[in-house]
Amino acid sequence: MLPASPDDALAPEWLKEPADPNDLAPGVWPASARRDADGELELGGVGVAELRARFGTPLYVLDEAEVRAHAARIKAAFDTAAAAHGVKARVYYAGKAFLSTEVARWVTQEGLRVDVCSRGELEIALAAGVKPSRIGFHGNNKSVSELERAVEVGVGTIILDSAIEIERLGAIAERRSAASNGTGSDGYVQRVLLRVNSGVHAETHDFLATAHEDQKFGTSLEAAPALVERIREIPSLKLRGLHCHIGSQIFGSAGFAESASRVVDLHAELREGGELPLLNLGGGFGIAYTAADDPTPIEELATAIVEAVARECEVRGIPIPTLAFEPGRAVVGQAGVTLYEVGTTKEVSLGERGERLYVSVDGGMSDNARPALYGAQYSARIASREGTGAPVLARVVGSHCESGDVVVDHEYLPSDVTPGDLLAVPATGAYCHALSSNYNHTPRSAVVAVRDGQARVIVRGETLDDLLSRDAGIAARRTKEATGVRAGEGEA
Ligand SMILES: Cc1ncc(COP(=O)(O)O)c(C=O)c1O
Repeated sequence: MLPASPDDALAPEWLKEPADPNDLAPGVWPASARRDADGELELGGVGVAELRARFGTPLYVLDEAEVRAHAARIKAAFDTAAAAHGVKARVYYAGKAFLSTEVARWVTQEGLRVDVCSRGELEIALAAGVKPSRIGFHGNNKSVSELERAVEVGVGTIILDSAIEIERLGAIAERRSAASNGTGSDGYVQRVLLRVNSGVHAETHDFLATAHEDQKFGTSLEAAPALVERIREIPSLKLRGLHCHIGSQIFGSAGFAESASRVVDLHAELREGGELPLLNLGGGFGIAYTAADDPTPIEELATAIVEAVARECEVRGIPIPTLAFEPGRAVVGQAGVTLYEVGTTKEVSLGERGERLYVSVDGGMSDNARPALYGAQYSARIASREGTGAPVLARVVGSHCESGDVVVDHEYLPSDVTPGDLLAVPATGAYCHALSSNYNHTPRSAVVAVRDGQARVIVRGETLDDLLSRDAGIAARRTKEATGVRAGEGEA
C-alpha cells in the first residue's frame, strides 16, 4: 500500500500497480512481442532464451518489421497531410537515434531519406547505399574535413548552423566548383538550409516559448536575414529554405504549431529576396516508454503541423513550400528491447514509506545512458518466464560504479524475480546503443535484428580484447611478446 501523501510515496503518481506484472503494455512493446505457452517472451518470433544462448546479455534486440512499420506509417502520415494541401512532404530518418547499414537500408526501402550529423554517420549511410542526394547533414560544428567529404560525395542538403559555417562551406563548395569545370561560379552548387531557433522549446509533454533561445544550435530569427543574404552572395551555395527543430519526445502539436507560425513569418520575409522551396520542421515526435505515456498518433500530429503551416502561408499570401521532417525516435524507439540477466536482488526497507526491491542487471548506464542523462523513465518485465509473485515496487539498476546507474527507476515486478532471470526493457531502440559507452571498461553490446523467427547480428558486440588492445601499454607488451622480446627488455 502506498502512503496517502504523494510527496512521501515511493512510487510516482503516474505508475499504476498492474493487475498482472507480466503483461506487455500495447504501444510500449513491439507488436511482435508475446509470451509463448510457457510464459517466455518472444520478439519477432524468436524466444529470449535462444537470444541469450546465442548472443549473451546485455543484448539490444531490434524488430525489423516494427522499424519498417513505423517508417512507412510516418511517411504515409506526412504524405497524406501534405497532399491534403496540394504539397509534397519529405521524411528523413534522423540517424542519430540509431544508425547501422541495415537500418539505413530498411528505412530507405520504406521511402525515407537519411539525416546524419557526423562523418561516421555519413559513412554508414553511404555504405548502406543511400543515395547522397537523399542525405541531409546536420551539426553545430561540422569540421572542415566533414564538410569536404559531404561536398565530395554530393550530399543533397547541408543544414548550415552559423555564420562561420557559411564561410567554411562556401569556400569548400567554391573550390569544388572551380575544380569541376574551371569556371568557378558556374560549376558545383551545394544545396543548403539555414537552421533557425524559433524561440519555442518543446520538451516531453509541454512546450515553453522563450524570447531568446539560450542554446548552441542554429541562429536566432532576428539574425537569420543577414545570414541568408550572405548565403545568397556565394555562387556555389544554393539556399533551399529554413530548418527548425524544437526538441524531442514531444507529445502534442501545440509547440510545433507555434514554432511553424514564427518560422513561416521569416520564410515569407526571406522569399522576397529569392525562392525558398523547402521548409524543414525537424523531428521530435514522442513515443511511449511506459504504459503511462500517451503520445499523440503521428497522423494527428502530421495533420496539425501541416495545417498550421498552411494557415500561416495563407495569411501571408504565399505558397506552401515542400515540407520536410526528421523523426528518429519515432522510427526505431519502439522496435528495440534490451535483454539483461538479473545478477542480484535486495529489499530495502524505507520505514513507514514502504519497501523497494533493487534488481541489479548485467548492464546499465553504459548501454542506456538516458535515465542518468535526463531522468528518462522506462519499464521492465521478466522475460524468460512469467513471474508468480505479487507485484512489488522495484528499481532496476546496473552494474556500474555510480549510484545514478539506474535502468528503470520505478516499476512493479513480480516479487519472485531472481538471479538468472532474463529481464527485458522495451522502447530502447533509440538513443541507447547510439549513446552507449565503455564506462568501467565494459565492452559495448551487440545489436541483433529479429524477423520472422530469425535472429542475426547487425552490429557486433565488442570483445574485452577490443577494449584491452586500445591500451598502449597492453598493445606494446603484446607486440614485444609477438616479436619474442620479453617484457622489460629493450627499454631505455
Ligand atoms: C536537428 C534534429 N533533427 C531531428 C532530430 C530527431 O529527434 P527525434 O529522435 O526526437 O525525432 C534531432 C534530435 O536531436 C535533431 O537535433
